[in-house]
Amino acid sequence: MKDYSANYAKHYDLLTSHKDYETEARILANFLENQGWGPEARVLSVGCGTGSHERLLAGRFRQVVGIDRSTHMINFGRMKDPIENLILRDTDLANLEEDNFDIVISLFNVVNCIAGLEVLNAFFDDIAKKVSETGICILEVWSSSAVISVPPEVVEREYRDGSVHLKRIATPHLFPNDAILSLEYQITGDDGDKPVAISSLHNIYLHSKELLVCCLEQAGFGTPDWYSALSEGMDPADEEDRMLLLCARKLTE
Ligand SMILES: C[S@@+](CC[C@H](N)C(=O)[O-])C[C@H]1O[C@@H](n2cnc3c(N)ncnc32)[C@H](O)[C@@H]1O
Repeated sequence: MKDYSANYAKHYDLLTSHKDYETEARILANFLENQGWGPEARVLSVGCGTGSHERLLAGRFRQVVGIDRSTHMINFGRMKDPIENLILRDTDLANLEEDNFDIVISLFNVVNCIAGLEVLNAFFDDIAKKVSETGICILEVWSSSAVISVPPEVVEREYRDGSVHLKRIATPHLFPNDAILSLEYQITGDDGDKPVAISSLHNIYLHSKELLVCCLEQAGFGTPDWYSALSEGMDPADEEDRMLLLCARKLTE
């Protein structure tokens, strides 16, 4: 079972249509403006998927570069109307040439796709290399403590768009001792006259807040501020929030 396969990527926008990307992008752009970032700022988004936030942010900032390790997700992102100051690349951070970004974002829990301390440290080091001296990084992450104390339940959703009708059953398997949440998606339905049947497995590595703070510090960032995720309004975080957003500033050497 793969995670971001061609078939899954094809239906990703419909399968995330319960998310309000417009409101999320507006909350984020307003926050960044309040932090002093104007229309001249350059933004890098790591794990941009099909680029939904990035398209909206491109209307508020000079340039947005979105990268994703899934060629399929980038391909579907590129099929949408082109936007002059939005660049989508199927690459990972280590192979990206551009640098000196004012803002690096990584939204909807990309960091929870990363397993193992070494890889996690390398991810934060790579982010630090891409952020300008005065830049910031903003990441959305699952709250490990909230998920482990109140385990997720099976969620069924139905999606419709024209002749596409999909049903998704998300079955969680929580392994608290290993801090892993495995989300098994069974997606069935019709795409016009073609049946759809996708099985997709998403391993979510539940990094503790303390670990993330430590990785940020080692990579040269200051202590982060914590908020609820964009989907929850980006309010100051509390213990019950299941998805969090952190904002950390690069420390000048
Ligand atoms: C849950 S999706 C989020 C996509 C998008 N940010 C959104 O809000 O819809 C996670 C994405 O992260 C990508 N990803 C995971 N690890 C990555 C990495 N190390 N570098 C780049 N992309 C990564 C996956 O391919 C996938 O498209």
